[in-house]
Parts: sequence; structure tokens; C-alpha cells
Amino acid sequence: MKILMVCLGNICRSPLAEGILQNKVDAAKLGWNVDSAGTNGFHDGESPHKLSQKVAVANGIDISEQISRRITQEDFLIYDRLYAMSVDVLEDMKRIGGEQFNERKCSLFLNELHQGKNNSVPDPWYGNEDGFIEVFQLIDRTCDALINNYLQTTNYTPKI
Ligand code: 4NP
Repeated sequence: MKILMVCLGNICRSPLAEGILQNKVDAAKLGWNVDSAGTNGFHDGESPHKLSQKVAVANGIDISEQISRRITQEDFLIYDRLYAMSVDVLEDMKRIGGEQFNERKCSLFLNELHQGKNNSVPDPWYGNEDGFIEVFQLIDRTCDALINNYLQTTNYTPKI
């Protein structure tokens, strides 16, 4: 399965979501491929925010190799699931995806944690390190829920 995590700049939230989920699916040997992208393209070509990198490293995850890029229409075809970090990002995705936007593939990331609540991951861009730590913990819990939801709905049995 190919998963795309999406936020605005692809430097704060979605790089963390990519790194955290990839780490967990690798440990669980699920064989998924996790990527990330942004809707605004303001930071194209940049590395993740220093504080996202810092909180990731503090939790044993290296996101330093990631490069920010803007989401493309093709992404809506390539990926099996596309997760928006926030309500505004999901609206941007509808606009950018146009005819390729598929409601069955695209959803709010935090609905994996609290189904139907339509919550957004706060944007830590405007705050300090505490904000990044909070966002890390929220994303981490949601990635656990996402994997559990998948395993439950598919009756997945691990290969030994
Ligand atoms: P992100 O945070 O969407 O979590 O990567 C942001 C980073 C940069 C900007 C907005 C949000 N910006 O407007 O430059």
C-alpha cells in the first residue's frame, strides 16, 4: 500500500507523519511505502523544519533526508490513501486534485484517531518547540490507531 501524508508546507507536520508511520510499518513488516507532500509549494526543495527533525531524532526517527515537494494531480492516482493533516489542507487537495480527487482515498488523518470528529493537527510553524513535541505525540498516537484500524478491517495475519 502507498500512503501520502499531506500538509501545507511539507516541512513540519507531514514529514513527521511520513517518518513516524514508515518507522512503525517497517517494524510491523507491513511493506507499506509512506511519502509526504504539501499543498502550497512554498518550501519546495527544503529539508524538514529543524524542530521537526529535532523531535524526530529525540524519538529515534531520522527525517533529515526528506525533501519538501508540492502535491501533484498524479499523486491522486499513484497513492492508495492520502491523509490531510488539517481541514484546510483537505479543501486544498480537492481543488488541486480536481477530477482525480477521490473521496474514498482522501481523508482527514485525525479521523483515524477519532472517527468523524474532523479534527486538525495544529500547525506548529508559528509556535515553539513545545508545539512540535505536542504534534509529534498526536501524530504518533494516530499512526498507531491507523495501523490498528487497518489490521482490524482487513483481518490481517502477519507473515512469520
Ligand atoms: P506544515 O507547516 O504545513 O506543517 O509544513 C507550515 C510550514 C510553512 C508554512 C505553513 C505551514 N508557510 O506558510 O510557509
